Amino acid sequence: MEEVKVLIDEQKLQARVDEIAKQIGEEYKNKEIILICILKGSIFFTVDLARKINEDVRIEFIRVSSYGEGTESTGEIKMKLDLKDSIQGKDVIVVEDIIDTGRTLSYLIEYLKMKKPNSIKLCALLDKPERRVKKVNVDYTGFQIPDKFIVGYGLDWDEKYRNLPYIGYIEN
Ligand code: IMP
Ligand code: MG
Repeated sequence: MEEVKVLIDEQKLQARVDEIAKQIGEEYKNKEIILICILKGSIFFTVDLARKINEDVRIEFIRVSSYGEGTESTGEIKMKLDLKDSIQGKDVIVVEDIIDTGRTLSYLIEYLKMKKPNSIKLCALLDKPERRVKKVNVDYTGFQIPDKFIVGYGLDWDEKYRNLPYIGYIEN
């Protein structure tokens, strides 16, 4: 059994989610926000953010997977679950758990722009800048973290550990 170590504890994590929600609320005053949750990893973050934003919020889901095995994405993206409702003319914030190489998001943002939202911003809880291959502009970042394999708060290792209330990493 692998050992999970704590990187960001629950209190620090929730305090940062509060700050991001407050910032979004101020920047989107009196606007309806569409949060696009990228399944499955972003589900906990999206729900907590939505609860803490004091503006009208709608939640949509999208699921993509990258081709290729192992822990690194290849950049070839497969749409597993597409949006069900139109985002045309809407103010959209894409909510992602972690940006690693940036391949998933650079593809997804281009894809979503074709659906003609009024605006599109990106909110990522975690960012591993050392690993970036494709440039992505992140509007809201929770934490910049070192190059470790992360689990918890939605992030998984082979579908395990998503339900941990903190951000952890697997040693070795
Ligand atoms: P990217 O396309 O390389 O930026 O990969 C992004 C996706 O890979 C994320 O949405 C995660 O689903 C997954 N991923 C990247 N790093 C980790 C990690 O440390 N733990 C768990 N999943 C990760
Ligand atoms: Mg993900």
